[in-house]
Amino acid sequence: MAGTVHDLTTPALIVDAEALQRNLAEMARALPGARLRPHVKAHKCTALAKRQLEAGHRSFTCATVREMEGMAAAGLGEDLLLANEVLDGSRLAALGDLARVTVAVDSPETIEAAAASGIREVVIDVNVGMPRCGCSPDDAGRLADLARSRGLEVRGVMGYEGHVVGLPDRGAREQMTEDAMKLLLRAHADVGGDLVSAGGTGTFDINTWATEIQAGSYALMDTAYGELGLPFRQAVFVLAAVIHVSPTHAVANAGLKAFGMDHGNPAMEGGHQVFIVSDEHVTFVPSGSVKVGDLVRFVPAHVDPTVAYHERMHLVDGEDVIDTWPVDLRGW
Ligand SMILES: Cc1ncc(COP(=O)(O)O)c(C=O)c1O
Repeated sequence: MAGTVHDLTTPALIVDAEALQRNLAEMARALPGARLRPHVKAHKCTALAKRQLEAGHRSFTCATVREMEGMAAAGLGEDLLLANEVLDGSRLAALGDLARVTVAVDSPETIEAAAASGIREVVIDVNVGMPRCGCSPDDAGRLADLARSRGLEVRGVMGYEGHVVGLPDRGAREQMTEDAMKLLLRAHADVGGDLVSAGGTGTFDINTWATEIQAGSYALMDTAYGELGLPFRQAVFVLAAVIHVSPTHAVANAGLKAFGMDHGNPAMEGGHQVFIVSDEHVTFVPSGSVKVGDLVRFVPAHVDPTVAYHERMHLVDGEDVIDTWPVDLRGW
């Protein structure tokens, strides 16, 4: 779609093309090639993943079966890691030659499910401190043996230090990443294999223990990561139109259905202060004069769930819309 931002239906997800390109280049410089396994959960967009491929990364991390399928169909299936447990891998096995599929397993049940589905390769998912999936480091070797006995190739371990990536204090991030990775390396010693997969945007330059880093948010960024002093710029915004102005406040036509809110309210550019976010509206206190019809830009507090609300993202250069990419990896 050509034209300008004034032609877009609001709310609209817009991406500053230059900031995106800089973020991709900055990361590719820090973690070239296979040192980064970009996580596509943050952008859910194969067109953006192709830019990451152009930046030199050929292996990708996914969170859902749908992401795996979409990446394979887009010709991006050279080495896909589903960094998540699945109980039915039949859709993954059905990808056949379209993709090299590796799945995270952390229990006899998930190993059995992988083997029964015809999946060939797994990593042992280890809990390194975040209360989510992942086995105890002490169980990793036993699970690897079980997986091998079921005919699965065990490529190594993964252990996402999700309890660390967002900590504001860099010293704490460094210490806790080291603690987490000691657990992962202990598990790896029992498991074997080439892969030690971990890390995120907040630890991309701290986690030197993993063989590959699974960062995803770095491409688009959000207010939470924006506070950490990382070398990545805010690239994604939600564009909305002012639909009401009163003496005390103004209202824009984007609301809870346009923003992931688990990290709190979005921020606004131009010094406006977000007051209330409701289903279809943001009520805000303007920093100066605004009028009905003005466009305003919001910075999402959490990029992943925000992007998942939108069907497409528009690449912009200033006010010009230079491309429109489907957010084509949504759903399950
Ligand atoms: C398994 C896994 N790896 C890596 C990441 C890194 O993502 P981010 O770039 O947002 O830190 C996430 C994010 O939630 C994740 O769930």
